[in-house]
Amino acid sequence: MHILAASLSGFRNLHDDAFEFSPRVNLVLGRNGEGKTNFLEALNYFALGRSHRGSRNEDLIGFHADALHVHLDVAGEDGAPFTCDYGIDRGGDRRFRLDGELVTRRSDLVGKLVTVFFNPESSQLVRGGPQFRRQYLDQGQAEIDPEYLRDLGSFQRALKQKAALLRDLRRGIADGRETRREVKAWNRELARCAATVCLGRREQAGLLEPFAQLSHNNMLDKDLKLEMIYRPRLESVRGFLASQPEIPGAKNDLAEEICREIDYITELEIKRGRPLAGPQFDDLEVRLDGVDLRGFGSQGETRTAAIALILARSDVLFQKRRIRPVLFLDDIFSELDRDRSHRLQDMASREHQLFIATARSDDVAGRLPGDPRTWSVESGRLRRQS
Ligand SMILES: Nc1ncnc2c1ncn2[C@@H]1O[C@H](COP(=O)(O)OP(=O)(O)OP(=O)(O)O)[C@@H](O)[C@H]1O
Ligand SMILES: [Mg+2]
Repeated sequence: MHILAASLSGFRNLHDDAFEFSPRVNLVLGRNGEGKTNFLEALNYFALGRSHRGSRNEDLIGFHADALHVHLDVAGEDGAPFTCDYGIDRGGDRRFRLDGELVTRRSDLVGKLVTVFFNPESSQLVRGGPQFRRQYLDQGQAEIDPEYLRDLGSFQRALKQKAALLRDLRRGIADGRETRREVKAWNRELARCAATVCLGRREQAGLLEPFAQLSHNNMLDKDLKLEMIYRPRLESVRGFLASQPEIPGAKNDLAEEICREIDYITELEIKRGRPLAGPQFDDLEVRLDGVDLRGFGSQGETRTAAIALILARSDVLFQKRRIRPVLFLDDIFSELDRDRSHRLQDMASREHQLFIATARSDDVAGRLPGDPRTWSVESGRLRRQS
């Protein structure tokens, strides 16, 4: 899919204006602090239903504006156009419209405009804590499996409930016997959902790995082995996956085993006042030629691997749902050597609409395929260069 055009008003430091984009490569150049990231953020906000930087909604409104409004014309995967609108007021009021119709539930936005955003922080996917990798697996699997999305949500809610009960028990606020029974009931619900989550994460890692390996080696122009190994924390899940059962009903069997494992440590959980076992502690190990990149990768290596992982998600999405997301690359070339940068640009632009923002125009000079459309940004005003 691709964004055909946009009009913006009241967004951060950006001047109110309208733009038409290339379906292939769009380049935003400018010095630090001029508004490049703001521009990509404005284009990406609808897809996520929030700022990719985690900013508060109100902070997106220009210092001198009362409200912001962004309109996007998008061509869907089948070529059929649709429009996306969002607006935010100073009062905190926020509206999303799809083809002019008000959308009230955030879940109804999911999967309409699909984007992938890559910036220097994305390297956290490989270098950062396990929560980044869990989220990565979860988002990928949720995009292709509605049951996963549902059970993951139920799991997170059940975990919160259980954590609250454990806290109350520890503080002596709750009635011991009754609350213990409730905790056990939550364990059953947690185990049911955890079975979906763990099997889904394993499936997602398996789907991603060959694509990640391919993108990675294309970027390097070398043949290295990139592995993505799902590391569940629960003993029962490890045993279950090692025995590789793919039979129907396997999920129920797994749920029972998980429930036994969680029940077994519940007394200890009550003593500590928090949940101690479950997929909330899982990880995904990324290995390059047998070496764990989290511990040993260089900056360039981890960034390259993180890009490969993210491109792999786009490939899985295409394999399963025939959707090619719009790709945003914000300032990511600085840690990559020139050859890697160029191969990445070639590769990514072959299959995605690309938006590239950079402060260093020589990172992309003379290299971009197709007919890149270029803007330069100064104090929030974008001027078309080509
Ligand atoms: N709500 C807002 N209203 C007006 N200006 C804002 C608002 N929020 C941020 N800014 C300004 O936007 C500028 C930052 O823009 P942005 O992050 O897009 O820069 P950039 O071009 O990506 O720079 P860099 O190359 O350093 O990443 C800052 O000068 C900041 O003060
Ligand atoms: Mg920036």
